[in-house]
Amino acid sequence: MAGVNSCPRLMVVSDLDLTMVDHYDSENHSLLRFNALWEANYRHNSLLVFSTGRSPTIYKQLRKEKPLLSPDITVMSVGTEIAYGESLVPDNDWVEFLNQNWDRNMVTEEARKFPELIPQSETEQRPHKVSFYIEKDKADEVIKALSESLEKHGLDFKIIYSGGIALDVLPQGAGKGQALAYLLKRLKTEGKVPDNTLVCGDSGNDAELFSVPEVYGVMVSNAQEELLQWYADNAKNNPNIIHATERCAAGIIQAIGHFSLGPNTSPRDVPHFSECKPDNVNPGHEIVKFYLFYERWRCAEVEDTDPCMENLKVDYHPAGVFVHPSGVERSLHDCINAMRSCYGDKQGRKFRVWVDRVSPVQMSSDTWIVKFDKWELSGDERHCCITTVVLSSKGGDASDGFTWRHMHQTWLEGWGVKDHSNWLF
Ligand code: GLC
Ligand code: MG
Repeated sequence: MAGVNSCPRLMVVSDLDLTMVDHYDSENHSLLRFNALWEANYRHNSLLVFSTGRSPTIYKQLRKEKPLLSPDITVMSVGTEIAYGESLVPDNDWVEFLNQNWDRNMVTEEARKFPELIPQSETEQRPHKVSFYIEKDKADEVIKALSESLEKHGLDFKIIYSGGIALDVLPQGAGKGQALAYLLKRLKTEGKVPDNTLVCGDSGNDAELFSVPEVYGVMVSNAQEELLQWYADNAKNNPNIIHATERCAAGIIQAIGHFSLGPNTSPRDVPHFSECKPDNVNPGHEIVKFYLFYERWRCAEVEDTDPCMENLKVDYHPAGVFVHPSGVERSLHDCINAMRSCYGDKQGRKFRVWVDRVSPVQMSSDTWIVKFDKWELSGDERHCCITTVVLSSKGGDASDGFTWRHMHQTWLEGWGVKDHSNWLF
C-alpha cells in the first residue's frame, strides 16, 4: 500500500467538495493553510486519504482546478473505487468484493420506472454506482419504492442521498464507511494501524465515515442538513465527533486541535518564523517555510530589510548550486540576490505557492535529500517543478536549523512554462 513504512501517526480521511475544498472561497485560503500544515508536519509519517463521490474523471478535473495535495490513497465514486498513489493503482480485491450479488443492469431497469429520477452524466455512472438527481421533497417516497422493488429481486444494494439532490445506488458492501473499514483492515494486516484516524465530511454520503469504530470525526460548520440529521439520530452522544465552527479545511484543522491529534498551527498562520516552536523543525517544515517566505516576499507581505535577506543568505551554502529547470546552473547566492530584486513584483496580484509530496530521506546524521513538487499559481497560470534539495543541519541535529547545499528542478510533465525567465525557483 502507498504511503508510510510504519504505523501512521495520523490518517486523515476527507471528503473533497465542501469539506477539503470550499467552492465559495476563490482564494482557497483554508485549503492552502491545510496544505502547509500537512506538508510541514504530517506528510513524512501520516496518511492522507481523499474520499469523494466524484468519479475518476471529475476528480482529476478538480485537481487541475484547485490546489489539492496528492493523497496517499484515493477513494472515489462514493466508496466504490479505491486507488493508491499518484498513478491511482486500482484495488482489484475491492472490485471483486463489490461484484458479489450486484447486478447493475437490474438497478438501471428498475430505476427507469421512476420518472422523478433524472440520470446524472455518463462520467458519474460507474461499475458499482448508479447515480441520479431527485428533488428533496420527492426523495423519501422514491427511495422507499425503489428499495422495495430492488429487494423483490433479491439484490444487495444501498441507496444514499446527498446534498439534498444526488441519489446513488451502490452495492450493499460499498460506500465511504465500508471502504474505510476495508482500508483499516488492510493496514492492520500490514502492521500499519494508524495511531489516530480523523474523518471529515459535510454531506449524506459522508455519514457512514462517522460510524467506523474508533475514529474521530469532524462535520465541517457548513455541513448539510442530512448529515446533521443523521448525527442527531445516531451519534449525538459520541464525544469523538464534533460539528466544527469553521468551514471546510479550516474545520479540519480545528478538529486536529480539538482532539489533540498533533500540531495544528499552519505555517501560513505564523507571520514570523522565528516564532516557530523547535519541535516543528524537520526538513519538510524547512521547505514549507522557505516557499512561504518566497510567496510573501514577492507579494510584499514581509518587510524588505537588509537583515531579512542577510539572514536568508546565511541558510544557503556559499558553494551551493541551483540547477534551473532550463538546465542553467547558478550559485544559490546568486538566486537569493535575484529574488531580492523581485520584491513585491506580485503585490496585489494572484500569486500562491505550495509544495506537495515533500519526502525527506536522511542520508547521514546531518544530511537530508528532500524531494517535492513545487507549485506556483500566478494569475491564472499554474506551473510545477519536481524539486530536489540537499539540506544539512547547522549544528548537531535538525533543531539547529538547516543549510541549503544544492537544489535541482525539472518541470513536472504538462506543467512547465514557455518563458523560462519567469521562473525563479
Ligand atoms: C458527487 C458525484 C455524484 C454523486 C454525489 C453524491 O457529486 O459526482 O455522482 O451522486 O457525489 O454522492
Ligand atoms: Mg461534500
